[in-house]
Amino acid sequence: ANGIAIMTSGGDSAGMNPAIKCAVEYAAQRGHEPFLVYDGLRGLIDDKIVPSTRELVSGIMHRGGTMLRSSRSKRFFDLKFRRQAYENLQRRGIDKLIVIGGDGSFRALNQFYADFGIPFAGIPATIDNDIAGTDYCLGVDTALNIIRQSIDSIRDTASSFSRAFVVEVMGRHCGYLALVSALSCGAEVCLVPEVPYDLDKIGIRLRKEIAEGRGYILAITAEGTKMADYLTRWINDTIGMETRLTVLGHVQRGGSPTVLDRIMAYKFAVAAVDALDAGATNAIMVYRDGTYGSLPIDAVAHQQYKLDPALFRLAGPLAT
Ligand code: F6P
Repeated sequence: ANGIAIMTSGGDSAGMNPAIKCAVEYAAQRGHEPFLVYDGLRGLIDDKIVPSTRELVSGIMHRGGTMLRSSRSKRFFDLKFRRQAYENLQRRGIDKLIVIGGDGSFRALNQFYADFGIPFAGIPATIDNDIAGTDYCLGVDTALNIIRQSIDSIRDTASSFSRAFVVEVMGRHCGYLALVSALSCGAEVCLVPEVPYDLDKIGIRLRKEIAEGRGYILAITAEGTKMADYLTRWINDTIGMETRLTVLGHVQRGGSPTVLDRIMAYKFAVAAVDALDAGATNAIMVYRDGTYGSLPIDAVAHQQYKLDPALFRLAGPLAT
């Protein structure tokens, strides 16, 4: 058997399609028979598995989301359904998996490996950038560019109408998107779960700036702080500037992958096939300090991600 099945699992993100395309093409180049699993873990159980051809993955490079679709499957926790998934793979001569997704998907496949010995390579993909061991997850740059474009637009109306805007960005518990967006969009305030914030100090700073002529305010909050509503009322009532809230929501998850996400997808996909060829059994592809490599799953799953300390140094003052 030399089949490699490629699947996406968990929250979708831009860059998944380029990764699928490259994994299929590179796996074939390396003498494997590539397969596609549709609908994530659910499709593994329900046998939505087809041999892939170049045609099946052509014309997808510029598309956001995942052409394979994705799901979060509760049934996969049940050994009975994992056995069903294993039998589907066996029948087709598939003995390796590449999963493009997040921490939860990696853990699920690690259990699958423990049960049935099917090696897998994981490619980190989530806009949240909250996977331990890697500086970068697929989809982050595309999400940041969508946020940047939205906040640039909001700045136009904020400055024209002398208002404050609170913009809530995604990230689940992680403040990465908020920190980078606040810096790249020139926000005055940024609240993230990882940095203690002090509204009293922020108030003193903003009042002083307003007295010196500041005409509008941009404040970014990470969804993980759950502070968007409160901050909106607080700026409106306490600072005394009319304030609107924009929750960007799922628009951040879509969009055509940026050049960075396409290139990162290629690098990760090649690394994944190479890792499996080198005998890796449950490795996660990572990009750290400018180099590509892989880490054993235990160094990634259940571990706490670390954000670049330089980001805190730069954005820290926006929380006080
Ligand atoms: O993990 C990606 C993400 O978009 C988070 O930023 C967000 O908290 C969550 O998924 C939203 O989940 P759902 O798409 O299930 O609403």
